[in-house]
Amino acid sequence: MDHSLHFLAPSTARPTATEPARARFLGRRDLPALMELEREKWNDDQAASQDDLCARIDAHPDLAVGAFCTRSGRLLASLFMRPVADDFYRHVQTWDDCVRAPLPATSSTLFGISLSSRNGDGVEALLKFFWPIALKRGWRHIYLGSPVPGLRDWREAHPDGAVDEYVHATRRGLPLDPQLRYYRSRGFTKVVCAKPDYFPHERSLDYGAILRGTVPLSALAPLWAALPEPYVRRVTRALSSLL
Ligand SMILES: CC(C)(COP(=O)(O)OP(=O)(O)OC[C@H]1O[C@@H](n2cnc3c(N)ncnc32)[C@H](O)[C@@H]1OP(=O)(O)O)[C@@H](O)C(=O)NCCC(=O)NCCS
Repeated sequence: MDHSLHFLAPSTARPTATEPARARFLGRRDLPALMELEREKWNDDQAASQDDLCARIDAHPDLAVGAFCTRSGRLLASLFMRPVADDFYRHVQTWDDCVRAPLPATSSTLFGISLSSRNGDGVEALLKFFWPIALKRGWRHIYLGSPVPGLRDWREAHPDGAVDEYVHATRRGLPLDPQLRYYRSRGFTKVVCAKPDYFPHERSLDYGAILRGTVPLSALAPLWAALPEPYVRRVTRALSSLL
């Protein structure tokens, strides 16, 4: 299970009255809350507009997920994804390319357009929610382009250092970069490549690291395809405490 999205395995087998966050698909009614989170987590160059968010929901409502505080109802985290060709990362340069790449006729690969969070429980809830859905729909890999916020400082200390060296660098077995470390802890264990001019991000020198996570148990795709979704959800709940 080393190379899987083990974060999708929650520590509790069933939702409880005390669970801090619950996830569901997003709709247009969530736009005000999404905009507030967007403005909180991204700067003016990076933030999506309301039209962008609306277009993401309309294009793939089954790939737009939000997690909400069970007590206050406040939006804690959002995740937008889209299908891409299995080898899409070989043909793209920028985040924009990833978002605009042609939709494949068939694919088992998703691209994470955007993850925004103001609370780690929210991220856990939305990924836990999406696990059985991913299995049922046959999604095997999820890619995302991560900022590498430690790159600028590292470059100052290593003027001749290659970015590839930095994104693969580890200390005590963990990625040197704090955000790559974060994603590794969330199951995105494979650093595929680094892309220059990927996305405006000062501390990353505008580089993005393309990361890949593998949906746990997705190798059993024919089994999940044959089972009704409520069963898949039950199986993932039962297994999640064992992973
Ligand atoms: C990345 C993000 C989704 C993580 O959300 P989260 O699960 O709620 O986790 P946190 O923000 O509390 O970060 C957890 C840890 O990851 C590390 N981390 C994550 N992103 C980081 C960054 N950009 N710079 C430095 N450290 C970072 C920190 O070490 C943090 O540790 P701490 O608890 O000691 O502060 C959230 O920080 C966010 O929305 N960031 C802005 C947008 C972004 O970069 N999205 C991802 C694009 S692919």
